[in-house]
Amino acid sequence: MHSKNVVLLLLCSIIALSKTCACELNISEKAFPHEKLRIVETNVSDCNSNITPQKTVELESLLLGLEHRLSQLNKDVLILEKEDDRELYGVLSLYVIKNEMTEIKQLIDRLNSTTQQHQILTANATKQLESLKTEMQELEKFDTMQVIKGQQAIAALKVDLRKCSEKLNTTVAPTEPPQGTCPRSRLLNVTEPKVYTKGEYPGSYAYGAWGRDPRPEKGKESWYWLVMLTLSNVYANYVRLYSSLSSLIIGVSVPGNVQIHSSNPTTNTIQGPNNVLYGGALYYNCYNQDYVCRFNLTTKSVTTLQLPKGTRYNSKSNFCHLEECYPYTDLDLATDESGVWVVYTTTQDFGNLVLSKLEEGEPPTLRRTWRTSVYKRAVTNTFMACGVLYATRYINREVEEIFYSFNTVTGQERFNIGIFMNKMSTNIQSLNYSPVDQMLHAYCDSNMVSYKVLFG
Ligand SMILES: *[C@@H]1O[C@H](CO)[C@@H](O)[C@H](O)[C@H]1NC(C)=O
Ligand SMILES: *[C@@H]1O[C@H](CO)[C@@H](O)[C@H](O)[C@H]1NC(C)=O
Ligand SMILES: *[C@@H]1O[C@H](CO)[C@@H](O)[C@H](O)[C@H]1NC(C)=O
Ligand SMILES: *[C@@H]1O[C@H](CO)[C@@H](O)[C@H](O)[C@H]1NC(C)=O
Ligand SMILES: *[C@@H]1O[C@H](CO)[C@@H](O)[C@H](O)[C@H]1NC(C)=O
Ligand SMILES: *[C@@H]1O[C@H](CO)[C@@H](O)[C@H](O)[C@H]1NC(C)=O
Ligand SMILES: *[C@@H]1O[C@H](CO)[C@@H](O)[C@H](O)[C@H]1NC(C)=O
Repeated sequence: MHSKNVVLLLLCSIIALSKTCACELNISEKAFPHEKLRIVETNVSDCNSNITPQKTVELESLLLGLEHRLSQLNKDVLILEKEDDRELYGVLSLYVIKNEMTEIKQLIDRLNSTTQQHQILTANATKQLESLKTEMQELEKFDTMQVIKGQQAIAALKVDLRKCSEKLNTTVAPTEPPQGTCPRSRLLNVTEPKVYTKGEYPGSYAYGAWGRDPRPEKGKESWYWLVMLTLSNVYANYVRLYSSLSSLIIGVSVPGNVQIHSSNPTTNTIQGPNNVLYGGALYYNCYNQDYVCRFNLTTKSVTTLQLPKGTRYNSKSNFCHLEECYPYTDLDLATDESGVWVVYTTTQDFGNLVLSKLEEGEPPTLRRTWRTSVYKRAVTNTFMACGVLYATRYINREVEEIFYSFNTVTGQERFNIGIFMNKMSTNIQSLNYSPVDQMLHAYCDSNMVSYKVLFG
């Protein structure tokens, strides 16, 4: 093992022209040019101001994904190091690491193609990745005597990886650690988009939802899910899973699809975009019913919950703005720190938002219901955070406003929230809060966008 050969370096060379940023791949570098990297970092930030926000965010998303993969790789190398039973030494870990190398390679390829016009990654990283892969293959053949030597090399590799991710950290906005408890305090603001990706099917399905399971099953903590309304922008019959954020960004779905039914639509398949995954089950509006469906991804069985009499469904009481309504958005499923909620309206509530907490029993039931005085059609979407319902409205093509809140603890309603969200495209078809990392996940005209929620 030669640690020099296995360090992953990201290096790009920026040529700042008047208004655009051009970059050059340099394959023939021989020594690690710390000084150049420093200059490049400075140039990158200069360069960023010249790049459109979309491009920057896309690039940052890719770098963020890469950062995640690198830190995961780092962790797994650490585990590999500890598995010193001398017998089954790291066979499993080696597989895990090999898979990670493949993912990182794909990420780098994607980063490369995304950045052709503005920023570019050195081809050296790819080259070194290849050599790391070779080294890993070599490592597999090690006998127990060589393991010791290997461990030293791995320790060096670990240091190199850390250095590398430190370099990355300087250009990527760091993701904050998840909060353990619900602050139960006021939502102060949301950030600029932190993740922006066209995903696996760029531009293909305008309606859908995506996110992260707030109460994941063991081993699926980093998984992301995606539901695209594949028929008429209304119906879907499967959930697509990704093993990490970077897999979602590069569009590699390793666990693949989990199908509810082979037909679309049919009884108990998905109708409308505002779905959530919670505790390994997808909650959604069932096809042609005023029901919430819960699809257990493990058992592949569906249980249903009928909403109160008078509940509006089949595109009768949608989320709307002045120009148009979002079809089949009668039911909005939401997650927060306390579990799953459903937002809807009924005839007897004159079309005002009604909010119910779901009891995760077998079958699920409604625990408690709150009535609000905000008209559902005056709202573009809703989400829950820390037991507070928030509603958004359309301002213009660039901006959406979180304007309304309803606190289920105090019953207090507010119409003057005044928090503005910068959009990456005109429409938000679904919006949901992830209590795991305090991110708002939005599905916007087939793009996936995340914002960080800031609490007081
Ligand atoms: C960084 O930018 C300066 C001017 O802005 C330029 O002279 C220099 O060549 C750039 N360096 C690299 C490594 O791109
Ligand atoms: C690329 O590498 C060659 C040889 O190492 C060097 O002469 C050249 O200046 C490099 N180009 C850039 C843009 O860094
Ligand atoms: C390029 O890779 C080689 C090993 O393949 C390494 O020794 C060298 O330092 C790397 N250079 C850069 C600029 O990353
Ligand atoms: C980046 O893409 C270009 C053109 O698509 C290709 O020639 C080059 O080898 C790629 N570089 C890396 C590091 O993958
Ligand atoms: C990179 O940033 C993340 C988030 O701030 C942090 O957890 C991680 O330790 C950093 N990595 C290094 C090598 O500094
Ligand atoms: C909220 O965040 C946006 C974007 O990050 C920022 O422009 C705005 O100034 C912030 N508003 C407040 C009240 O902090
Ligand atoms: C899914 O089914 C399994 C097996 O019956 C059960 O253990 C699990 O709790 C179910 N999940 C949900 C969310 O109902």
